[in-house]
Amino acid sequence: MDAMVAPPPPDRPRLGPRLRAVFARIPIECRLADIGCDHAHLPICAALAGRVRRAIGTDRSAAAVERARRNVRRFEADVEIRHGEGLEVLAPGEANVLVLAGMGGERIRRILSPERLARLGSPELLLVPHRNVPALRGHLLRRVGPIVHEDIVWERGRPYVLLHAHVGTPPGATIDDLFLGPSLRHRDDDAYARYVRRLRADLAGALARARRGDDPRRDVLDILDRELERLGSAKGDDTP
Ligand SMILES: C[S@@+](CC[C@H](N)C(=O)[O-])C[C@H]1O[C@@H](n2cnc3c(N)ncnc32)[C@H](O)[C@@H]1O
Repeated sequence: MDAMVAPPPPDRPRLGPRLRAVFARIPIECRLADIGCDHAHLPICAALAGRVRRAIGTDRSAAAVERARRNVRRFEADVEIRHGEGLEVLAPGEANVLVLAGMGGERIRRILSPERLARLGSPELLLVPHRNVPALRGHLLRRVGPIVHEDIVWERGRPYVLLHAHVGTPPGATIDDLFLGPSLRHRDDDAYARYVRRLRADLAGALARARRGDDPRRDVLDILDRELERLGSAKGDDTP
């Protein structure tokens, strides 16, 4: 009889820089829920790496849930996929770390109701909004709890902010906190300066296209100009 040949170990999904940055901040041995997981690459990688005690992926889209379940089978990962809206598919205590990535800041804000978070047991939050970051920062800092860490990740020529927040006593926010980030704005390195230059270039472009001369976003341009002056940086965008 032929010697038994062990099957090759299943490969893993490849994460891009954005989800790799989230992966790196997942606390070891946590109970993870990825809300809006789509393909479920993140919880699959976390489970296969033995980084988490439990991994749940959820999505409101039936097509995404089907895709996620297919990937879980393909990679033979111990990940439970659930179909449903926001935090409604989680029971108290099931997850102590929630990931919400690849949605707009307004949508994430609507999902993260402080009352619902408290009922779930105040999980840590790892968030990567793809737009409207100030709206989400305002919600966290005024209604949910402190942002304990922020990072900038570039993917396909675009910056994304990764926010790591706790549920607890909200510290409040200044306007600079909302637009520059409560921890980012204390940095003075080149990566941060490049990020502020990009924010300024995007905003200046939007204002040039806007019709109103008294557009309130001009105040934000002033904040960004002040920050670039503090950083000793030119105003032009040097990103490819
Ligand atoms: C662009 S994908 C992001 C996938 C993955 N999280 C990432 O960052 O690459 C956004 C996913 O969020 C899901 N989604 C949007 N709003 C949701 C909600 N309220 N509850 C659950 N899933 C939601 C969408 O169906 C979609 O699959």
